[in-house]
Amino acid sequence: MSEMTTTTQTVEAKPRRKPNPKAPRQGVLHLAPEVRIDGCEEVALGFSPEQVKVEVLRCLQCKDPKCVEACPLHIDIKSFICLLGDGDLEAAYAKIIEQNPFPGICGRVCQHELFCEKACLLGKKLEPVAIGTLERFVADQHWQANESSDTAGETMPAGGLKIALVGSGPASLIAAYDLIRKGYRVTVFEALHKLGGVLAYGIPNFRLPREILNGEIDRLKKTGVEFHTDFIVGRSASVEELFKAGYDAVFLGTGAGLPHLMGIPGENLVGVYTANEFLTRINLMQAYQFPKADTPVRVGRRTVVVGGGNSALDAARWARRFGSETTILFRRGRAELRARLEEIAHAEKEGVHFEFLAAPVCLLGDEKGNLREMECIRMQLGQRDESGRPSPVPLPGSEYRTPVDTVVMAIGQSPNPTVQKSTPQLATNRGKIVIDVGGRTSMTKVFAGGDVVRGGSTVIQAMRDGRTAAEAIDGVLSEQQNKSVSDSARVATLPEPVANGSHRIVTKRLITPEIAWLEVEAPAVARHWKPGQFVIIRPTAESERMPLTIVDSDSARRDGTIHLVVQAVGKTSGTMVALEPGQVLADLLGPLGQPASVEYVGHVLCVAGGVGAAELLPVARAFRSAGNRVTALCGARSATQIILDSELRSAAQEVLWSTDDGSAGFPGTVVALMRAWKAQQASPPGAVHVIGPVPMMRAAAEVTRAWGVRTFASLNPIMVDGTGMCGGCRVTVGGKVRFACVDGPEFDAHDVDFEELTRRNRAYLEQERMAREGRLCRIGLERVGEDPPRRPS
Ligand SMILES: Cc1cc2nc3c(=O)[nH]c(=O)nc-3n(C[C@H](O)[C@H](O)[C@H](O)COP(=O)(O)OP(=O)(O)OC[C@H]3O[C@@H](n4cnc5c(N)ncnc54)[C@H](O)[C@@H]3O)c2cc1C
Ligand code: FES
Repeated sequence: MSEMTTTTQTVEAKPRRKPNPKAPRQGVLHLAPEVRIDGCEEVALGFSPEQVKVEVLRCLQCKDPKCVEACPLHIDIKSFICLLGDGDLEAAYAKIIEQNPFPGICGRVCQHELFCEKACLLGKKLEPVAIGTLERFVADQHWQANESSDTAGETMPAGGLKIALVGSGPASLIAAYDLIRKGYRVTVFEALHKLGGVLAYGIPNFRLPREILNGEIDRLKKTGVEFHTDFIVGRSASVEELFKAGYDAVFLGTGAGLPHLMGIPGENLVGVYTANEFLTRINLMQAYQFPKADTPVRVGRRTVVVGGGNSALDAARWARRFGSETTILFRRGRAELRARLEEIAHAEKEGVHFEFLAAPVCLLGDEKGNLREMECIRMQLGQRDESGRPSPVPLPGSEYRTPVDTVVMAIGQSPNPTVQKSTPQLATNRGKIVIDVGGRTSMTKVFAGGDVVRGGSTVIQAMRDGRTAAEAIDGVLSEQQNKSVSDSARVATLPEPVANGSHRIVTKRLITPEIAWLEVEAPAVARHWKPGQFVIIRPTAESERMPLTIVDSDSARRDGTIHLVVQAVGKTSGTMVALEPGQVLADLLGPLGQPASVEYVGHVLCVAGGVGAAELLPVARAFRSAGNRVTALCGARSATQIILDSELRSAAQEVLWSTDDGSAGFPGTVVALMRAWKAQQASPPGAVHVIGPVPMMRAAAEVTRAWGVRTFASLNPIMVDGTGMCGGCRVTVGGKVRFACVDGPEFDAHDVDFEELTRRNRAYLEQERMAREGRLCRIGLERVGEDPPRRPS
C-alpha cells in the first residue's frame, strides 16, 4: 500500500563543493569533566556550525555509498550531508526523516561505529566521517527552529484498521511512525509510566536529554498515534483480548528487561543492584533529585560496576556523579568492551577506573547485611566462545579482595517474559520470541521485533525490526485496509475489552486516622485480578511506585473499580491516605503477581498482623468459596487498631483477635494466639496463610513448621517496577533467588529467608529519615566519617 503523503519535501542532493577528506575528523565539543560530574547535563555538545562545514567536506560523496547500506534504516547519508554542506538544514532534516523519524535520539545514542561509520570509505585509511554527530546537528537545528511549530508531526488521516503495539521502546516507536503513515490507527501500550523503553529508564539524561526524547515522541503523538502507559499486556489485557477489542494486528516490542544475576554468594546484600534497578531508580524515578523526588538510591563511597556494555558504562557514570570512587570490573579485555566508544572515553575522563580480566567470586557483608567487600578472581583470555569473543578463563589462586559499598550487576538481560507466559501459543526459544524474516511470530497477525527477539541489541537494530514488522503488517492487512471505510474519528478512549479507566478515587472510608479504604476506577484490573494479586500505584508524579494488595473489586460497574486499603507509614502512603474522592492517581498498573494458591484442604488458618487483616480478606473469601472452613487470627496493637472486623467475619467462619496491650481479645501477639488456638484444636489445619509484618510472618512460619503444616506467606519486599524488570524485589526462597513481583508475592513460608528480607526492607530507612530531617543522604559514608556523596544538582 502506498504511503500517505506528508508535509516533508525531499530534495535531490548534488554535491557542489570539492570534498576535503584530508581535513581531520572534527572533535565533538564536551562539557568539562569537572563540571559534568557535578550534575546531569548533557555531556556531548555536538559540533559548532564551523566544525560542520569542515566535517561535511570530509565526505567523499561516494557513487555507491556503503554507509547507506550499512545503516539499518538506510538513511540517505550521502544526500543529507550534501544538503547540509549547501546550508539547507531543513532539506537535510527532511532527507533524514524519510527513513528515520528520531534523528535527535539516534544522533546521540546510536552506535554509529558499528554501522554507517564502520562502512565509511574514508575510514579505511583515515578516520570515518562523523555521521552520527552530523545527524544530531541537523536534528538539533531543526528542533531549535521549529520547537513550537513542528509541521512534520502533523496528524495523518486515519484508516479503518487498528494496530496494537506493545511496549514503547525504539522498535515500537518506529513501527508506530511507519504504520500511521500507511494510514492505520495505531495504539501503543506501555507497562511503565513513561514512554521510550530503555531510552527512558536505562539511558541517562546526560547522554540523551529528556526534552529530546520526549520531543521526538511528541512529534509522533501529533501524527495521531495513541499512547497508553500503565498498561501491561499479559496482565491488564491479553493478546487475545487486544484482538477482541478490535485490533487487527499486534506488534510485540517488549524488550529485554529481565536482568541477569551473577549467581554468587552475597548478591542479595544491601547495596547490590542490578543495572536495571540502579538506572530505573535514577533515570525513571529521578532518584538524583531525592528527596525532591521520593525514590532513593544508595550510592556508597566505593562502587564497582560488573560488566562492559552500555548499561555498565551508564551505571558507572551515574555513580561518579554521586561522588563515588567507581570501577568497572570486566572479565575480558578492553577490546571486548561492548559499550559505545564515545561513552568509554567520557567515563575515563570522568574518573571511572577500568579493571580488566577480573570477575567477582563472592560479595561479603557486615552484620547488618550491608555490602562491605568483594572477592574477585583474575582471568585470562581463552578460546572464542559463541559470542565470537575470547572466553574469560579464571586463573586459579589469583583471588583478591577489595572494599566496596555498592555493586551494580550489568551483565546482560533476557526478554521480559510477561507476554510469552500469558500467550503459550507464541513460539519462543530460550525466552526470545521466534520470528521469521518478516517479523511474523507463530501466531497469526502477531509480529515481534527488537530486544524481545534478539535478547539485547542496539537502538537502531530494534528500529530496523520495528520497520520490518510494519512492512509485514501492511503486507498482510493492506488489501483489507484499502477496502475499509476511512474513518477520521480517532480511538479517543480504549474499547471496552481493554479499557483501563482514569484511576479516579470513587469512594473513600477512613478505617482509622492512618488507614484508608479507597475504591479506585480501574476497569482492566477489576476484570482480571485474582485474590493475592496487587497493583503498583503512584499517587502523584513525584511519588515512588508503591505496591498495594487488591482487596476487592466491582467489575459489574461500568467504570469497574478495585478496592485498596492503605496505611500511612511513609510519604507515598501518607499522600495516598490524604487523597479524596474525585482525585485521580498519577499511575496504577496491574493486576500484578501470582494469585494466592487457593484449593480445598478442609480447614484453613489465615493469620494477619496490622493492616495485613485487609490484605487477608480476599484470600480468606477465596478459601471459603473453595469449600474450606476458614479461621482468621488477626493481631492489632490495641483495641483501637482493630480493623475490618465485620468484613472478616463475613469472609471467615471464625475470627479471633489478639492485642499487644491486651485491650481486646487475646492478650499478646498473634503468634501467641496461634499457639493458644492450636492447643484447643483436635487436629491441625490443612494449610496456613500468613500476611503482615516480616517478623510476625517469620515467627508464624516457625510455629507452623513445628506443626508440620504447609504455610504460605505473602511477602512485601521493596518494589520498583513490579513487572520483573529491576530485580529490586528479589527474595531467597528455598535457596533460590526469586522476584517477588512476578514469582510471588506468595511463597512457601518455610523456605523464605526472612533474615535477608528484613535487611533488604531496611535498605532505605536511613535515607528516608534524613530526607524527613531535610538532610542530604550520607548512605555508605557515615561510618567512615567522610563527606557525603555529591548528588547531581
Ligand atoms: C542501560 C542501557 C543503555 C543502552 N545504551 C545503548 C546505546 O547507547 N546505544 C544503543 O544503540 N543501544 C543501547 N542499548 C540497547 C538498546 O537500548 C536496546 O537494544 C533497545 O532499546 C531495544 O528496544 P526495544 O524497543 O526492543 O525494547 P525496549 O527499549 O526495552 O522497550 C521495551 C518496552 O516494552 C515495555 N514492556 C515490556 N513488557 C510489556 C508488556 N507486557 N506490556 C506493555 N509494555 C511492556 C517495557 O516497559 C519497555 O518500555 C542500551 C541498553 C541499556 C539497557
Ligand atoms: S523486578 Fe522490579 S519490582 Fe520486582
